[in-house]
Amino acid sequence: MKDILAELETRRAEARLGGGRTRIEAQHAKGKLTARERIELLLDEGSFEEFDMFVAHRCTDFGMGEVKYPGDGVVTGWGTVNGRQVYVFSQDFTVFGGSLSETHAQKICKIMDMAMRNGAPVIGLNDSGGARIQEGVASLAGYADVFQRNIMASGVVPQISVIMGPCAGGAVYSPAMTDFIFMVRDSSYMFVTGPDVVKTVTNEIVTAEELGGAKTHTTKSSVADGAFENDVEALAEIRRLVDFLPLSNREKPPVRPFFDDPARVEDSLDSLVPENPNQPYDMHELIRKVADEGDFFEIQKDYARNILTGFIRLEGQTVGVVANQPMVLAGCLDIDSSRKAARFVRFCDCFSIPILTFVDVPGFLPGTGQEYGGVIKHGAKLLFAYGEATVPKVTVITRKAYGGAYDVMASKHLRGDINYAWPTAEIAVMGAKGAVEILYRSELGDREKIAGRTKDYEDRFANPFVAAEKGFIDEVIMPHSTRRRVARAFAALRGKVLENPWKKHDNIPL
Ligand code: HXC
Repeated sequence: MKDILAELETRRAEARLGGGRTRIEAQHAKGKLTARERIELLLDEGSFEEFDMFVAHRCTDFGMGEVKYPGDGVVTGWGTVNGRQVYVFSQDFTVFGGSLSETHAQKICKIMDMAMRNGAPVIGLNDSGGARIQEGVASLAGYADVFQRNIMASGVVPQISVIMGPCAGGAVYSPAMTDFIFMVRDSSYMFVTGPDVVKTVTNEIVTAEELGGAKTHTTKSSVADGAFENDVEALAEIRRLVDFLPLSNREKPPVRPFFDDPARVEDSLDSLVPENPNQPYDMHELIRKVADEGDFFEIQKDYARNILTGFIRLEGQTVGVVANQPMVLAGCLDIDSSRKAARFVRFCDCFSIPILTFVDVPGFLPGTGQEYGGVIKHGAKLLFAYGEATVPKVTVITRKAYGGAYDVMASKHLRGDINYAWPTAEIAVMGAKGAVEILYRSELGDREKIAGRTKDYEDRFANPFVAAEKGFIDEVIMPHSTRRRVARAFAALRGKVLENPWKKHDNIPL
């Protein structure tokens, strides 16, 4: 008996070594943790339950029959994050570069199936050279099995990907179908094909960092939702994110203890909007002043910065925030910001997370660049996403709400539940200058007349009261009371029931 117990320990110790000490040291030398060290940091201490520690690949081609590592390059199982269950897989770069074999894929599929059945998120820690080259089509099939599960799990359990090393080929397409992708700066890359192939095919000379580093994907491509300095920070932040999310679409988001008065008054908000309507202000300030303990987990912070998206809590409950940012492009909507916000709104709606929208938007960005890029279709994504969302929606217009962008930003007309405006709100088809130039073109030579016309227009529309008279604004509120008003609004909406008509699925303008 004792021998058998000892054998188990020996086998376990062997499995824990992955690809061996030399490769572990190489991993550490690059500033990266091992697959197991990462799991330890991600999960609550002692909570990890591992599966399939002894699974080995079945490939015999290219001399592979002689090189087997127990676990086959991925550590899988479940554990808890602040007491709540999550499933996790962590690819081991020390075993064939974390590449995905048939059996490696089966291990990932097994925990994804469990996550779906038991209703818990899947967190993938990716560090993989893609399909295991020696296995050929068997590894491609393995990837497709994972992809199919990513698709089936979408909207059922949250899926979070952390890119923690060079990820190529299939190793980027599976994360691409998950809800969030985070990267680690200077040690993680994502590309369909690496720099060498790029050079051969297109003659472009590009570094791995330029092609698929964290900066590229958080600022240019928007493939990644955020980047962190190192493995430790990334894993700590993923724990923070998990705390905001429900375990599945069958559950409500978690309610955390809170120590911040929901009726807290913020007098400074009364002077947040500058006198000059063309002067910007930082919308972050409003979000932080409204949130419990000022805590805001921002998503896609470095991309399309003219719109802000992320999670806060109100009375301990998760709320998704979308807010125009007057500091960047005057807060206007464009292709990138519409796509960014639409995806965020849809995530919130999938997982019963109420949506708070702060509006200060002068309209859609005009120009050939936008039109040729398809702003009509991309803008429609946000319009569509807000309109189909059935979660509680509370909107506050702080300043400009012009034109189509007024409609888009969770207006009453798109089933906004409670729509507030500050007294500084201006709700109109467009700004006074543009409107007067169109309406009174023949008078443009007469500066005095035009000034009078502009004043008339401002008096009529540069306020929230016309919309309030029509009931499109439920109440004009004092800026300093925003936290209280918004918290009470969401409290009143906790029992909201709204269903869209039956359909197989909708056809959002992709
Ligand atoms: C088998 C692999 C591997 C792979 C790396 N290794 N990638 N083994 N299959 N795909 C092995 C290496 O042989 C090496 O083994 C170890 O992992 C570390 O690799 P290095 O190249 O030494 O590391 P590094 O210099 O850091 O470069 C990492 C890398 C590079 C950028 C990931 O290895 C690379 O380009 N690999 C191939 C990427 C790729 O083209 N994958 C196929 C994509 S196609 P030893 O024994 O020396 O430690 C695909 C199809 C799916 O995924 C498509 C679905 C849509």
